[in-house]
Formats: sequence, structure tokens, C-alpha cells
Amino acid sequence: SDTESLLDNIILIGMMGSGKTTVGRLLANLAGKNFIDVDHEIQQRTGVGIPVIFEIEGEAGFRKRESEVMREVVQQQNIVLATGGGAILQPDNRTLLRQSGTVIYLCAPVSELRRRTHLDKNRPLLQTGNAYAKLMELFTQRDPLYRETAHIIMDSSKQNARTFVQRLLQRL
Ligand code: S3P
Repeated sequence: SDTESLLDNIILIGMMGSGKTTVGRLLANLAGKNFIDVDHEIQQRTGVGIPVIFEIEGEAGFRKRESEVMREVVQQQNIVLATGGGAILQPDNRTLLRQSGTVIYLCAPVSELRRRTHLDKNRPLLQTGNAYAKLMELFTQRDPLYRETAHIIMDSSKQNARTFVQRLLQRL
């Protein structure tokens, strides 16, 4: 809309496999914003992959790094931020994200999330046990938190990324 500043941040939240990274890159390109992916940023800073951080520091250690990186990068303007699926778990993070830009929840059914994360070795939470059941459990816990944090909620399972981004741009 006209009131949306050119420098405003757009923040993508949602489950693993909801399309945050793909959509984020494309959106940043089309909207002339800088793309930042929180997981990628954490890997850059530590020099190791996400699974290694989980292994050495546990999920709690990863969450601390994640919160720290988010707090820092949202100081910038004119960014599209792709967060990790668990970014909204802490109340402080939910407040931070909501205050730092327009928050979009990329919503998708668990079957689609499962399809898109199938064979993925880079997501430690899905490496043990039944990945479908795990995704279902996480979705049940988190869907209300994503909804509470988001300004805009959009189904990202029905169209390809390009069409989704066109639709999103019309809503901003
Ligand atoms: C996580 C999602 C991952 C990554 C980490 C934990 C989660 O990010 O941050 O594996 O708790 O849902 P993506 O949502 O980009 O896969």
C-alpha cells in the first residue's frame, strides 16, 4: 500500500519447509530489499552447520544464538528476513519480530511440509524417529504462536514461489 515505506522490513515466519528461504530470496529481489536468512547467518558466524551446533550446544544453545542474531540483524532497514521455524518460541522474540517489520506467516499443511523436508539432512529436529509425527507435533505447538506473531497469514502450499510473492506484494 501507499503507506508502506520503501525501507520497511519484511519478516517471514513459519515451519520448516514452508518456503521462507525460497520466497524470501525472490521477494527481496523483486522488492529491492536485502535478503537475510537467520540460519545461514548463524552458520556463517560459527563456521559450522546447524546439526553441529545442535550436537555440541544442544537446542538451547542454538536458540540463544538464533535470538542473538535476530536481535542484531533487525536493526537494519530494508531487509527481507527468513527466520528459522523455531524463531517464535520465545515471547521476547515474538515481540521483537512484530516490532521490526511486517511479519508474514507462511502457512502450509503438514503433508506439504513433510514433502518439502523429505531427505533433508540439515534439520536436526527431523533426524530421529518419525519425521511426519515430529512435524505434526511442532505444527500443533507452533501454529498458534505463528498466528499471534504475524500481521499477515498466507497459505504457501497452493502456488509456486513466484505466484505467492506476487500475491504477497499486492497485500503489502
Ligand atoms: C528449526 C528450523 C530450522 C533451523 C533449525 C531448527 C525449527 O530452520 O532453524 O533446524 O525449530 O523448526 P528452517 O525453518 O529454515 O528449516
